[in-house]
Amino acid sequence: MKCVDDFRLKFGNTELVPIVIGGMGVDISSAELALEAARLGGIGHISDAMVPTVSDRRFNTDFVKEKAKLYKYNVANTDKSTVIFDLGRLAEATHMHVGQTMEAKRGDGLIFINCMEKLSMNAPRDTLRVRLSAALDAGIDGITLSAGLHLGSFALIEDHPRFRDAKLGIIVSSLRALQLFLRKNARLDRLPDYIVVEGPLAGGHLGFGLDWAKYDLHVIVAEIVQYLRAEHLDIPLIAAGGIFTGSDAVSFLESGAAAVQVATRFTVTREAGLPDKVKQEYFRASEQDIEVNNISPTGYPMRMLRSSPAIGAGIRPNCEAYGYLLDGNGNCAYITAYNREVALHPNEKKVSVMDKTCLCTHMRNFDCWTCGHYAYRLKDTSRLLDDGSYGLLSAEHVFRDYQFSTDNRIALPV
Ligand SMILES: Cc1cc2nc3c(=O)[nH]c(=O)nc-3n(C[C@H](O)[C@H](O)[C@H](O)COP(=O)(O)O)c2cc1C
Repeated sequence: MKCVDDFRLKFGNTELVPIVIGGMGVDISSAELALEAARLGGIGHISDAMVPTVSDRRFNTDFVKEKAKLYKYNVANTDKSTVIFDLGRLAEATHMHVGQTMEAKRGDGLIFINCMEKLSMNAPRDTLRVRLSAALDAGIDGITLSAGLHLGSFALIEDHPRFRDAKLGIIVSSLRALQLFLRKNARLDRLPDYIVVEGPLAGGHLGFGLDWAKYDLHVIVAEIVQYLRAEHLDIPLIAAGGIFTGSDAVSFLESGAAAVQVATRFTVTREAGLPDKVKQEYFRASEQDIEVNNISPTGYPMRMLRSSPAIGAGIRPNCEAYGYLLDGNGNCAYITAYNREVALHPNEKKVSVMDKTCLCTHMRNFDCWTCGHYAYRLKDTSRLLDDGSYGLLSAEHVFRDYQFSTDNRIALPV
């Protein structure tokens, strides 16, 4: 019976344990978690979501305070078009977050950064270019392009000295999205170094509609493997979404995937950035407690625990401090929804907004409890303690369980 350790992910001469811990914003896939994956010979991701905010927490900087102070005059204004990011400060924050993580790296594995196109930050091209370039400047091993089609993202960094040496990959949920990406980037003569194929059972935003249950990761992977073979494209494919045991992973490695990307099982590790209280919510979740809804202002469906405080909270948009989801014209679907509720209930001090959420604020505060479909099985991965809580796991324990387990077994902590 094979286990994940019988396979290797090959990038040129580099051989890695074929386990990638996926990016989890905002700082759930912390530097500590990514560093463990790299130390153990796999790949870890840090996230580029809200990096100035993350930097303030990690390094005691004042990026958010400064921005909020600068735009304080605009807080009551419904027009957010003037609220922009200082590109120099954005680069500085990214340098710190990436640079200090890379300095701490030990072992043979790699550290990538997950970069979401949907974080349009009121200036989509300029802010994305700065985030990508600063991460490369600071020595990141690779960049995973996610949450968007990224049709123009390679071109933003084509002149960067590391454009051809850093590992650059893309997350897709369909063959069509991959073909579009390859076609749009053909003129650059630079293929992605890896393709993450993310199915409908993943955590975070989904590349599917609310009919996600009709899709099957195995089918999508088979289709893309066949396409890559037919086109003679030798690009490692990384399967993601709902891979809960080592045996699940082996089934993908045997059908043409070069590695797997996993996330949900690591949310309850000590190294993950969620507060301990929230980790217990993840452990306790039952299948009925998990839903896919449309409250994210990005327009993508998102999977989360129904008990997430973000659902229905009608807080004032916080774009002066954050503003990561403002499109190029200073709009965000949450602002529209919030203003509608305020207009409908002029005499109420607090409104409830059910259809959208202020994702920046709630992700920042760990109040949007996004998770993969199988989060309800997390309770089977640990032990219930005498005080009624579940024991947190070490990232090493979970990583090694994926690496060595067979027969769909899940090793409990000693
Ligand atoms: C808590 C959580 C947060 C996530 N955040 C992001 C994110 O910010 N960007 C992204 O591209 N994917 C995100 N994901 C998706 C993961 O990177 C990964 O591809 C997917 O969840 C793998 O499936 P699994 O969780 O079933 O193992 C997130 C997943 C989880 C569980």
